[in-house]
Amino acid sequence: MNKLTLLFTGIVLTFGSAWVGFVAYPVANLANMEPLPDEETGGLIPPTLSGLAVAGQKVYAASGCVECHSQQVRPDPLTTDIAKQLGKRQTVPRDEIREHTPFLGEYRIGQDLSNYGARETDVAAVHRHLYSPQLVSPWSNMPSYSYLYQYRKIVGQPSSHALQGLTGSFAPKAGYEVVPTQQAEALVGYLLSLNQNYPLPESPEPTAK
Ligand code: HEC
Repeated sequence: MNKLTLLFTGIVLTFGSAWVGFVAYPVANLANMEPLPDEETGGLIPPTLSGLAVAGQKVYAASGCVECHSQQVRPDPLTTDIAKQLGKRQTVPRDEIREHTPFLGEYRIGQDLSNYGARETDVAAVHRHLYSPQLVSPWSNMPSYSYLYQYRKIVGQPSSHALQGLTGSFAPKAGYEVVPTQQAEALVGYLLSLNQNYPLPESPEPTAK
């Protein structure tokens, strides 16, 4: 083999194997993945996101939450994610197919959120946290998302949606209230929809040792 043929073969092999590994193999295995039928409810596994959650996902993307929060439970026993109760089983590709852009995330400055809706159901508490993270955990370095809330003068009756339990420096002045915008409502809808507690054959729950 002359040097030019050797060089050419080397180039083809290098780029060809990268293409097979990073493009062809994932496309063949993952591109046509479908949700599974849920025999119990007649719905789909994973369940489809509600309209509110889809809108909230866009707010999640725009707010940069993925900079600090992952959404993937890593496998047992390589990590302690399951022991830490971040989820009951490992996250697998089928968990992500309902999301146009899955927010797997790289960093965990805050907790993994893939099963946040399984451990939190209180809408008011989630709003309070987004508005004033340091009220919930004084040491928190999560920024306040107060721009997703309207700080306004109470006219007539206070709003039934106004945030309750804001204390200290987070409390609104007398005669004022803090009310979630549609974006905040959607974001909370999305956060509470994050729940991978459905069975997937390719990701069984690890058995207790
Ligand atoms: C700079 C990093 C940072 C950013 C950006 C950030 N967070 Fe956090 N988040 C944290 C930290 C740290 C905690 C843990 C302390 C606390 O509870 O505030 C946390 C906690 C949380 C929790 C509670 C999780 C649990 O299991 O109790 C939720 C929900 C949450 N963040 C949602 C969000 C959302 C939604 C966004 C974007 C709008 C966001 N975070 C942006 C750092 C961040």
